[in-house]
Amino acid sequence: MDKDIARLVEPDRVHRTVYTDAEIFDAEMDKIFERIWVYCGHESQVKAPGDYYAVTIGRQPMIMVRQNDGSIQVLYNRCPHRGVQVIGNRQGNTGSALVCSYHAWSFHLDGSVRAIPLAQGYENTRLTRDNPDSAMKRAARVDSYRGFVFASLVPDGPTLREFLGEARVAFDDMCDRSPVGEVEVVPVCHRVIQHSNWKFFMENQLDALHPSVTHQSTGISAGRVERRLKAEGAATPLYYHYLSTFASSFEQWDKVQTINFPHGHGILKAYMGLRPNDPDTQEYEALLVQAYGKEKTEEYLSRSIHHVLVYPYLSVQSPLQQLRCLRPIAPDRTLSEIWHFRLKGAPEAIYRRSLWYYNLVNSPATMINADDLENWTKGQWGLQSKGGDWVSFHRWYGDDREDNGVVYSNHGTSEAVMRNQFRAWAQYMTA
Ligand SMILES: [Fe+2]
Repeated sequence: MDKDIARLVEPDRVHRTVYTDAEIFDAEMDKIFERIWVYCGHESQVKAPGDYYAVTIGRQPMIMVRQNDGSIQVLYNRCPHRGVQVIGNRQGNTGSALVCSYHAWSFHLDGSVRAIPLAQGYENTRLTRDNPDSAMKRAARVDSYRGFVFASLVPDGPTLREFLGEARVAFDDMCDRSPVGEVEVVPVCHRVIQHSNWKFFMENQLDALHPSVTHQSTGISAGRVERRLKAEGAATPLYYHYLSTFASSFEQWDKVQTINFPHGHGILKAYMGLRPNDPDTQEYEALLVQAYGKEKTEEYLSRSIHHVLVYPYLSVQSPLQQLRCLRPIAPDRTLSEIWHFRLKGAPEAIYRRSLWYYNLVNSPATMINADDLENWTKGQWGLQSKGGDWVSFHRWYGDDREDNGVVYSNHGTSEAVMRNQFRAWAQYMTA
């Protein structure tokens, strides 16, 4: 496999099969998704003891469960008796025990055995209740960062903090915008099946070369309405700006820098003015100043971030409290969960602002997301064809500045993003 990977990933181009091949997909599950720290959810998704949320890590069905002592465990959703999934719903509260619906084996919230019905038939067998094999298996490691819960299915490897590296700023930036330093999940998410390989989404997130093409029709239309409202002296709600910015010129996009970190993580710097000077924002900023002082507030609100990518599966838009998480299903199928958050202690208007963005840009019903989805599907079809073997990442190759393992693009439209992601990918796949 190592030799193959070196053959498939070159610094400026990759072979199409890394998006289409089932064996490569399986290897990605083994070597990447079922090893690294994978996002399970926000701790506010499971508030009370017994609250659970079902989540997939790689190919493994898992459940995140709030414990009686307030901690969170992540368990394989599998009864040790005959292998039946113990939790059948996506979310809920299981009370004080997890109970299998097949033969009523029951487990404490941490997966340890609570009761095996008709215990006397097991006395002289290998599966007595003190055997660890009769407990539900746990994820090897669970940790959280500022309320965002992650699990890793292997006991060794980098800590969560080491894995996140500089991409930690995604969570800092979101939480620091709350006067109490915390966010709360809005407990419903859009779930979209993308008919494309997960890499399409990850590349697209920091791809400043595409918006003025892909999103031109939406951006131009929104810009027209925005200008008309202005001319009429009417208010121009921020949400027109969300859309009209997509139609910025190539030159403008080219000025937006990407910063590309080790492990494939990255940042697309801010390009949307997201700090209007309306009464709601003033009230909100006053709350932040009260909580943190002027200097810190300024630092928090002026971080230049539009997207932060936690490679290979998370796209966080911290200034808008959005988080999208990928759960790859097959080479050509990817589940995306689209979440958004409330800033605790911030005025309702600030939440509404994020809700508009959620509905207008990230929702599958919007023209923005729909146009992206269509491109990724067509991309998958193209790469499944025999029309050519290579995917080009040549744009501004050799032009970017590398400093201490971090690649800074001199041009927003540089394909440094994809080159950096594949550098990480090849490292994972050959480790
Ligand atoms: Fe897009």
